[in-house]
Amino acid sequence: MFGLTGKSLVTLKDYTPEQINYLVDLAIELKAKKRMGIRGNLLAGKNVALIFEKPSTRTRCAFTVACVDEGAYPEYLGSNDIQLGHKESVKDTARVLGRLFDAIEFRGFSQKTVEELAQFSGVPVYNGLTDEFHPTQILADLMTIKEHLGSFKNKKFVYIGDGRNNMANSLMIGCTKVGMDITIIAPKSLLPEEGLVEICKGYATSSGAKLELIDDINGVVGADVIYTDVWCSMGEEDSEKERVALLTPYQVNADLIKLANNPNMIFMHCLPAVKGKEVTEEVFEAPYSVVFDEAENRMHTIKAVMVATLS
Ligand code: CP
Ligand code: NVA
Repeated sequence: MFGLTGKSLVTLKDYTPEQINYLVDLAIELKAKKRMGIRGNLLAGKNVALIFEKPSTRTRCAFTVACVDEGAYPEYLGSNDIQLGHKESVKDTARVLGRLFDAIEFRGFSQKTVEELAQFSGVPVYNGLTDEFHPTQILADLMTIKEHLGSFKNKKFVYIGDGRNNMANSLMIGCTKVGMDITIIAPKSLLPEEGLVEICKGYATSSGAKLELIDDINGVVGADVIYTDVWCSMGEEDSEKERVALLTPYQVNADLIKLANNPNMIFMHCLPAVKGKEVTEEVFEAPYSVVFDEAENRMHTIKAVMVATLS
């Protein structure tokens, strides 16, 4: 369907707006199916390798449950369990796993690793987060926005905080592809890299979305979605002191919500959250916070990706 059979998901740059919308709608269908208690067999007989160099709650569990719900077998491979990058090259590991598994998920540091796995394994490879991108998270985010706000067009999405991490990069791609206006608010030194901004400007021109990058928190006015992420991503723990100093004025708190001045606004976060840093407890627990719908939707969207690419 839509050219998805056999396709890897290493970044949403490789996906058309039609493919993204199809996956979101398929996830909504699969969620309804699960709610009705229907166990499926859309992935029956498939074996999926789950490689994790970094820790994970949502992504690991989402892949595992999604596999089991539709009849596939998931095999968890922690970084100390396999030779990848220690005793064996990525290229060789890719070719071995590709002979044994129908698909491979990879979470780790380097985007190059997930790209090499996709290049040499001969099976679909899914990026479960790298330093650069987190594409399966974006599908869950778009699904959650569709469920709560109905559509992407004429909606203002504001991402505030560390504007050059994997989430900011991927949200910028996802929003501009599907035609949702996106404002990234971050200190100048933490705005996204110029090359990616140029690429996303091209997507925005095609979809009719607006892309704005600013360091002024007043950019939050009129936001339909306020999104933030941790100030120190996995592997960046040493930067904490410097990030707290830079990002404290960008915290999502009651004053920022008031400044947004939109009674229909929703708050989102990919989780895990560090409460008291990027978001206050008050905002996190507020009725407009949809973070647990978003977390659940990781499973439905990951299931949609596997169903679309493997069956
Ligand atoms: N949002 C997300 O990727 O969560 P985990 O790190 O728990 O997988
Ligand atoms: N930017 C965060 C996302 C976690 C889901 C990290 O990479 O740690």
